Amino acid sequence: MIDVNIDGAKKFISDDDYEKSVYKAKEAYQTIKKGTGLGSEWLGWRRILKSPNDAELDKIEQHGADIREHADVFIICGIGGSYQGARAIIDALQKPFSEQAPEIYFAGQHLGANYHEQLIDYLNRPKEDGNRKSVYLNVISKSGSTLETAIAFRMIRRWMHSVYGDEAKSRIIATTGEEGGVLNNIIEEEGYSKYIIPADVGGRFSVLTPVGLLPVAVSGIDIKTLFYGAVAEFEKLEEDPGYIIKYAAVRHHLHEQNTELDVVSSFEPELKEFTNWIQQLMGESEGKEGKGIFPVTASYSTDLHSIGQMIQQGRRNMMETMISVDKPISNLKLLPSESETDGLNYLAGKSIHSINKSAQDGTFQAHVEGGVPVVKIGIEKLNEQQLGRLIYFYEMLTGIYVYMLNVNPFNQPGVENYKKAMYKLLGK
Ligand code: PA5
Repeated sequence: MIDVNIDGAKKFISDDDYEKSVYKAKEAYQTIKKGTGLGSEWLGWRRILKSPNDAELDKIEQHGADIREHADVFIICGIGGSYQGARAIIDALQKPFSEQAPEIYFAGQHLGANYHEQLIDYLNRPKEDGNRKSVYLNVISKSGSTLETAIAFRMIRRWMHSVYGDEAKSRIIATTGEEGGVLNNIIEEEGYSKYIIPADVGGRFSVLTPVGLLPVAVSGIDIKTLFYGAVAEFEKLEEDPGYIIKYAAVRHHLHEQNTELDVVSSFEPELKEFTNWIQQLMGESEGKEGKGIFPVTASYSTDLHSIGQMIQQGRRNMMETMISVDKPISNLKLLPSESETDGLNYLAGKSIHSINKSAQDGTFQAHVEGGVPVVKIGIEKLNEQQLGRLIYFYEMLTGIYVYMLNVNPFNQPGVENYKKAMYKLLGK
């Protein structure tokens, strides 16, 4: 279960107002369970946990292990919900600085010419032993026609066909909708292997489908434990939603009080990309019809030496969600030193984790005293199981809270506007 602590926010809300919001949150929760709300044809992110497809999990796990064995480099080509979830999980659970095999790179998540040019340059460079790198590519696009992804895919695919010839076909894996989209035409023409993104699962809710699971499996992370962590959270919330209702109620009440920003923060650098995933999930779901709290992210304590100043004393238009991990990720300790010149001996023998915890508790206290309502969301450990739980918790929270705004959480009509203007300029 996820630990939800609203004490740092509740003191800004009267009991009456809170009870009214709780009532509304319970209604929204029931709407999701009954499948009667706006966009209810997109509730497949619940369906896949209710009846897990173990055969597909096995297949993805096996395929991921095969690629892992044969690849020096694995490229994930996608944007938005078609890459952010995989990035978040891989960043959270892979050890920094360890020599990962394969190396994992992302492409198609922007139109940066330099980045893509350098990526292809890097692929061209031989390994230390003089041999060519073994490269695999997973292109991911539900619509199969997103420009950023399509451009990067064309460039890398072309490179792969020129280097590997016919063998490129077995090195390129496509993940897309069952039918439609240009990508499906390419798959048919070239014979690439394909994973299907279920029609009832939208992009930013698709991390527990092949969209997120294949890249995560390639990285060596245990996808079954991750997936079944989400299943456990699904089952828990089906019978006891009290803790998610509390959070949705607080966020909704603060929205009604014109709170403009939610600073989604963590003191674990491993969770930086995970907070970006939350930002994408919530931002693209709630920011419609002139509504929504803008989710921004902060990675502490780094950002306490930057936007921390503004959070503490700037305009009082924000709330904060602090995501914490209870058990240490590492047992590293500060050792005593004979010389006291650096003045740190008062900390000698303490774990870095406990020092970081004091930084977190101190920040919580200072931000609440500074007038920022803070909700704490805690997991016990940073592992596959707990991350799976947190993923479903946030998907469900997004659904409940956005329904409270009377908005469809599952579409993104505004994204079309930039595309229309861009395509016009490009002469499409
Ligand atoms: O949540 C969403 O639907 C979006 O963020 C999409 O994932 C993103 O726009 C990429 O779309 P596609 O997978 O169709 O390329």
